Amino acid sequence: MNSASTSSVVAPAIPPAFGAFDPAPERRADPYPSYRALREADPFYRLPLGAQQVTILTRYQDCVTVLQGAEWGRSEEGTNAWRPSDALDGGLRSFLRMNPPNHTRLRGLVSKAFTPRVISGLRPRITALVDSLVDAAQAAGEVDLIDVFARPLPLRLICELLGVPARDEETFRGWAAALTRGLDPDHLLTPAELAQRVDATREFDAYFTDLITDRRNRPTDDLLSNLVAVREQGDRLTEAELLELCALLLVAGYETTVNLIGNAVLALVRNPDQLATVHADLDLVPAVIDETLRYDPPIQFIGRFALQDTEVSGRAFRSGDVVVTLLAAAQRDPDAFGDPERFDITRYGGPAPALRHLGFGLGIHYCLGAPLARLETEIALRALIRRAPRLALSTDQLAYRAHLVVRGLQTLPVRLAP
Ligand code: HEM
Repeated sequence: MNSASTSSVVAPAIPPAFGAFDPAPERRADPYPSYRALREADPFYRLPLGAQQVTILTRYQDCVTVLQGAEWGRSEEGTNAWRPSDALDGGLRSFLRMNPPNHTRLRGLVSKAFTPRVISGLRPRITALVDSLVDAAQAAGEVDLIDVFARPLPLRLICELLGVPARDEETFRGWAAALTRGLDPDHLLTPAELAQRVDATREFDAYFTDLITDRRNRPTDDLLSNLVAVREQGDRLTEAELLELCALLLVAGYETTVNLIGNAVLALVRNPDQLATVHADLDLVPAVIDETLRYDPPIQFIGRFALQDTEVSGRAFRSGDVVVTLLAAAQRDPDAFGDPERFDITRYGGPAPALRHLGFGLGIHYCLGAPLARLETEIALRALIRRAPRLALSTDQLAYRAHLVVRGLQTLPVRLAP
């Protein structure tokens, strides 16, 4: 951990070579050598987090075992190595942080409102938004693609889904930023960031309490109205559950998609041969999406909690132990993927697809919004590649956000020559 550059961060005592969880911008630019160093040093690397320790899993098969195993879940009650105090909690709750049967019940309810019909019905709206954003970006010529394209698209869509008017988008974006950074382990957050997480949660709850009341009195055809209706038909989603769900959808559905678009475009402009290949055959766009989710995933790691004594590849864990499945490392595990450090769209676009990536997770918490994220990203990348095939970086100086769980660019300066 480079404590000189992050003096306000409470640094865990890990060797500098393994600074995989260092939020310093220079480390965020390329954490992959650190991830590899961790796997090569010890695939069960013990990372001190405050007074406790978590085990970092960096091999593909070990991550699959944990994500699919019923012995592993979330710590629904009480604190753990990741969240040592609930006094400063706030942030994401909802079913992402639950185990069966609570998880099963809530996920089932939400799935009823978040149907394939609702998602496919968004296609014309997404296409119109993408076209107008590409028009504006192309007219400008040289742009920050995060600012003018990757961010506005998912932000506007999630706001429209949740019924947030355009005038409140910026406020919404601020809450999302605080909640997204708040996903990282508490020991790696500054006191200011912890406080921002609490403030954002409170303000978000107050805002959505009003919006939910409004939708109950005057339902529209948005997702929020559907969620309120599910609650009333089945009499099961409480007010608190609705609020938690809205916050979950905001963070899970917005920042991740911004970064999937950004990370995919960056990988393509850094590999012009692959950009040319996909330009020649736009049906390869889904393969670009899958390879990005493997090579540079927006969600870098997922925490899990041992619900009972268990073992992973012969290594014993006690009930209550916390592990980190470092997806971003596991997906470059040479025992699972050939030439893993190479961005190669033929991995998922050819006749013999590679092993499934873990970019949307695995097991009972598998991303509920994956079809929506795929739809948005596919429409966005198709339009961009078709209309700007000579897309190129206008600088090599790329800034990353400090987030650790969610990885993404602060800016992506590109030239959009037609
Ligand atoms: C590129 C975009 C996305 C990525 C990379 C992504 C990734 C993930 C991952 C890795 C998980 C599993 C977390 C865990 O196991 O602890 C997850 C869960 C989830 N995602 Fe996504 N996601 C994306 C987009 C979306 C969208 C657009 C939505 C909805 C609007 C969404 C909603 C959810 C929800 C509700 C969960 C919790 C599922 C559960 O706990 O059962 N995600 N996502």
